[in-house]
Amino acid sequence: MRILSGIQPSGALHLGNYFGMMQPAIALQEKGEAFYFIADYHSMTSLFDAQERRKNSLDVALDFLACGLDPKKSVFFRQSDVPEVTELAWMLSTLTPMSLLEKCTSYKDKVAKGIPVNHGLFAYPVLMAADILIYDSNVVPVGQDQKQHVEVTRDIAIKFNEAYGETFIIPEPQIRGETAKVPGLDGEKMSKSYGNTLEIFGDEKTLRKKVMGIKMDSRTPTEPKPDADKNLAIQLLKLVAPTEDAADFENRLRAGGLGYGDLKKQLFESYWTHFAAARQKRAELAANLDYVNGVLAEGATKARTLAQTVLKRARRASGLE
Ligand code: ADP
Ligand code: TRP
Repeated sequence: MRILSGIQPSGALHLGNYFGMMQPAIALQEKGEAFYFIADYHSMTSLFDAQERRKNSLDVALDFLACGLDPKKSVFFRQSDVPEVTELAWMLSTLTPMSLLEKCTSYKDKVAKGIPVNHGLFAYPVLMAADILIYDSNVVPVGQDQKQHVEVTRDIAIKFNEAYGETFIIPEPQIRGETAKVPGLDGEKMSKSYGNTLEIFGDEKTLRKKVMGIKMDSRTPTEPKPDADKNLAIQLLKLVAPTEDAADFENRLRAGGLGYGDLKKQLFESYWTHFAAARQKRAELAANLDYVNGVLAEGATKARTLAQTVLKRARRASGLE
């Protein structure tokens, strides 16, 4: 089984990205042949700063490796190191009805928000289809927001197979459950665009301040809190603390007697400890960029070899060869 997923190099990794995307992706590398890539071509649709793209791409590589991506198990590479994918995207675009792309909610949302949209953003699902099809992927683990794009991929693959004969494997999306929606520091979904994130790697003082700054209600510490499970700090604690510890704090909050300050202190400590090993690993990797670049180069070679085989199949099928 080949598993494929991509992540855009769009900024510092936060708890939402980690529990929603990175951790499940890393767990899946035990289940099949995983291909994970840094979607730098995709980032060009909304990020227009070269230096920032370079930095973010390296950050994603460091984050992924620090969090447990094992290059012996997974093929890890930069999307743009396999330029064949853009040729396939062109071929697929000729079989993609405009109406299929006009229906895509992530595009429509951006239009509705008044974000200036470009052709790349409109054609984004076609490039994503090429990403998926060029590696003969069977399973594509994504968040709910990307499900429609995988469905578009299936439609395009079916159209290609109908027009030119069986060429592509029809992939299945694997959608992560609702529990994967990590709340941000204001209680809304954690997201860079809401400015409510808690970063995984960053300066201790700044992060402690962010946690201690979480707003709580004005009930006194002694008051029992029957809604303890709805408390944001408790919800986050459940992600980063051992189960028994989180349950203990939840019970103490429910019973009354636990102050919000102490709860937030515990949340910070648990969070800091949870990522201690990854932080250490990331520092080591950052001091050994030759290794990191070597991993990406090796991944690119493996990915490119496969991509060239599949592209050739598509070129032959469609009469380019
Ligand atoms: P952001 O919303 O911060 O810009 P992205 O859209 O770049 O994050 O998301 C990158 C990945 O992380 C996607 O797979 C997305 O589903 C996942 N993700 C982002 N925020 C959360 C969250 N709060 N809970 C769960 N998963 C999330
Ligand atoms: N669009 C995905 C996101 O923003 C990233 C991505 C690009 C991707 N190509 C992909 C995910 C192919 C899965 C498969 O999160």
